[in-house]
Amino acid sequence: MAFGASAHVILLSLCVFGAPSHASDVVRPRDAVPSGYVALPYYPAPPGGWTNDWSASYAKARALVEEMTLAEKTNITAGSGIFMGKNYGIPCVGNTGSALRLGFPQLCLQDSALGVASTDNVTAFPAGITTGATWDKSLIYERAVAIGQEFRGKGVNIYLGPTVGPLGRKPLGGRNWEGFGADPVLQAIGGALTVKGVQEQGVIATIKHLVGNEQEMYRMYNPLQSGYSSNLDDRTMHELYIWPFAEGVRAGAASVMSAYNAINGSACSQNSYLLNGLLKDELGFQGFVMSDWLSHMSGVASALAGLDMDMPGDTQVPLLGSSYWMYELTRSVLNGSVPVDRLNDMATRIVAAWYQTGQDKDYPPPNFSSNTHDPYGLLYPAALLSPTGLVNQYVNVQADHYKIARKVAQDAITLLKNDDDLLPLSNSSSFKVFGTDAQVNPDGPNACGNRACNKGTLGMGWGSGVADYPYMDGPIDAIKRRTRNVTYYATDTFPSVSAPSPDDVAIVFISSDSGENSFTVEGNHGDRDASKLAAWHSGDTLVQKAAAKYSNVVVVVHTVGPLILEKWIDLPSVKAVLFAHLPGQEAGESLTNVLFGDVSPSGHLPYSITKAAGDLPDSVANLKGFALGQVQDTYTEGLYIDYRYLNKKSIKPRYAFGHGLSYTNFTFTNASIRRVTQLGSTPPSRPPKGPTPSYPTDIPAASEAYYPDGFNAIWRYLYSWLSKADADAATAAAAKGKPYPYPDGYGTEPKAGPPAGGGQGGNPALWDVAYEVTVTVGNAGDRRAGRAVAQAYVQFPEGIAWDTPVVQLRDFEKTAELRPGEAEAVTVRFTRKDVSVWDTTTQDWVVPSPEGRYRFWVGGASDRLEVACYSDTLTCEEGLESLV
Ligand code: BGC
Repeated sequence: MAFGASAHVILLSLCVFGAPSHASDVVRPRDAVPSGYVALPYYPAPPGGWTNDWSASYAKARALVEEMTLAEKTNITAGSGIFMGKNYGIPCVGNTGSALRLGFPQLCLQDSALGVASTDNVTAFPAGITTGATWDKSLIYERAVAIGQEFRGKGVNIYLGPTVGPLGRKPLGGRNWEGFGADPVLQAIGGALTVKGVQEQGVIATIKHLVGNEQEMYRMYNPLQSGYSSNLDDRTMHELYIWPFAEGVRAGAASVMSAYNAINGSACSQNSYLLNGLLKDELGFQGFVMSDWLSHMSGVASALAGLDMDMPGDTQVPLLGSSYWMYELTRSVLNGSVPVDRLNDMATRIVAAWYQTGQDKDYPPPNFSSNTHDPYGLLYPAALLSPTGLVNQYVNVQADHYKIARKVAQDAITLLKNDDDLLPLSNSSSFKVFGTDAQVNPDGPNACGNRACNKGTLGMGWGSGVADYPYMDGPIDAIKRRTRNVTYYATDTFPSVSAPSPDDVAIVFISSDSGENSFTVEGNHGDRDASKLAAWHSGDTLVQKAAAKYSNVVVVVHTVGPLILEKWIDLPSVKAVLFAHLPGQEAGESLTNVLFGDVSPSGHLPYSITKAAGDLPDSVANLKGFALGQVQDTYTEGLYIDYRYLNKKSIKPRYAFGHGLSYTNFTFTNASIRRVTQLGSTPPSRPPKGPTPSYPTDIPAASEAYYPDGFNAIWRYLYSWLSKADADAATAAAAKGKPYPYPDGYGTEPKAGPPAGGGQGGNPALWDVAYEVTVTVGNAGDRRAGRAVAQAYVQFPEGIAWDTPVVQLRDFEKTAELRPGEAEAVTVRFTRKDVSVWDTTTQDWVVPSPEGRYRFWVGGASDRLEVACYSDTLTCEEGLESLV
């Protein structure tokens, strides 16, 4: 519904969603949020279980939850406290309570999106942004399978990934590298294939952070300051930011993490429109929603708004043994403030997710501790007076996953420039290598906790999104394995060197880092607020100085995102530039395989590289600074981020989204188009919701909440029981019938669900394939094999009532390795949703002109689209000038 819209649309939407009778109390923006951006109420929380694909798991979950006492139900909806262990004393980053009497265990929740965090004997995979840069669906999936196997092998129930928000709206944003690229479709395909691969191993995947967490600074609410508000309109929400979440839900994601920030003034962990309306009703999400760590800030309100799990259980100020849920949720149900059916739904969603991924059968318990590498340690570190026990079993889960990690790192490497075909290198040249980024951190690759430093080869950003390296294959080691004639200068200040000889090749390594706001690195508060888009450690000067000395310079860039390259990109001796992104543990050989030509580079940029930061609009180019009250981050650019903005304004970037060269070149010929489904302007009606589990709604007896006799509580551990006196008092309060002051717009009348819903991800008809385009991709070179990516973009018909970006990515396919003269036919698809816009008035996806001319462009980059096929004539043209 209308996140931001005219009053007319807001009121219309109120009708659509059957909002409260006191509309005037409801539609005003919150204090400080610009007018027009409204977080409407959406109640009640839709119970889960209504899609066929989850019904068997819900039936089992119902049978189990029905047997639970009140305290057992509340115990599984929250963590036992930060740094508090599981029953075996084995702490993960989050640990729920259990219902052991019924065989339901504590669940272990563990970071990160790129590998099992804070433990040993795991693979440190390339980051999301690297994975996105491969543009290879099979590799994305294979990485996810390997990640899933490692999480399962360590006994993790819930993988805290993939990251599909931030989307990468702001190039300076700190955590963009955890996701797959600054485009909703690239991000969505990366996320959905990761959900699939991980969950097929029996591990619950968590798509995070819902939503609008596009910068790190000022993201968190604390008792003194509100987290920033991302203010965005309804269409932008649907066509950009929620898109990857919709695809993740469609892939069956069993868990979602809410973001720290607010949307339109309402914190994501208790935003009823976001959780109840958009996620659970429109996107048909059947799993459970957890809060991001310590973002839980209300007991009753968050439950009513659709939150299902409080992580890690504590209030915003942790380690006091207090929680808004656990014992408080028990109390709130007993005194009648949280409806019993809401608690039943929360518990059922969690148990259903456990069944849905098959965790009821032979799931291993955790065998590691994220708090220590020692075999024995504190079982409950936060308790101070904790017993000790065996906490680490050092289970090796790596198998041969280094191969997939290396392949991802290698196939992501993006060749931006290759003048005079300097690359591939001949190993008979003499090499001078510069930059500390070429060597593994001399203190060890894991010397900085949470990788919160940029020392040595940058293989990942910093924060919770990291894993410990089992080892790191450093670039300089790999180069030395290849060729004898190497001199390495482990410095970022250009050293004094002897006079170059003509066959000298200089390889300069530079980097740019970012991460989570919990750590500040070299003045950067998560976001790149200090370093901006310049290379760290004066890397740009290092390149300039090397270029002044040597006539053949290769620049290798390890980076979280785009940089401004203008200081040196046009220097004649800077002949080749490779973006190796964030390669993880396999930084070395993945690079030398490309540098020395074992394979051609086949990565493509997952974002645009502009000539100046200011080529993007202020709302995107700049971070929001401190403000008294709530920081307001308003998405005034709407749909126009990254290449969508540059194309609209005819601003040529230095390198366009999707750009990436090879050692060979490719042709796109023999294009054909097929209409698969004849579309009308609106999708067929959604299927109705199926039945959901029902339970008695009487408030349970107080005795279901009493502490067991003689129970020995651990200090600061969070329990769901109440003392007898408290439980009885809560029951007495319910009997008095004093109503809880529910939020404006609260209602209990169940909704049929919005027209755009109907299945996981939305109305299933949105994924009807409308058109298929087949193109033959040929290797037109005569010397080298290589892999090409066919990128498919939609251009909407002219003259429609909606302003749409010039082109928008909708699908892609990567070829196998093609030898010279070889070709492969690839097919890309455009669904109904791909050719629709979000209509804020009807609250549905609309095909603006079903008979009009859609142009489906295919080519090797967003600015190299040579083939266009037309929806009206079903013909194609080749060899076209690119549109942008
Ligand atoms: C991050 C999440 C992470 C969680 C647990 C939070 O600070 O935003 O992405 O999963 O911590 O470590």
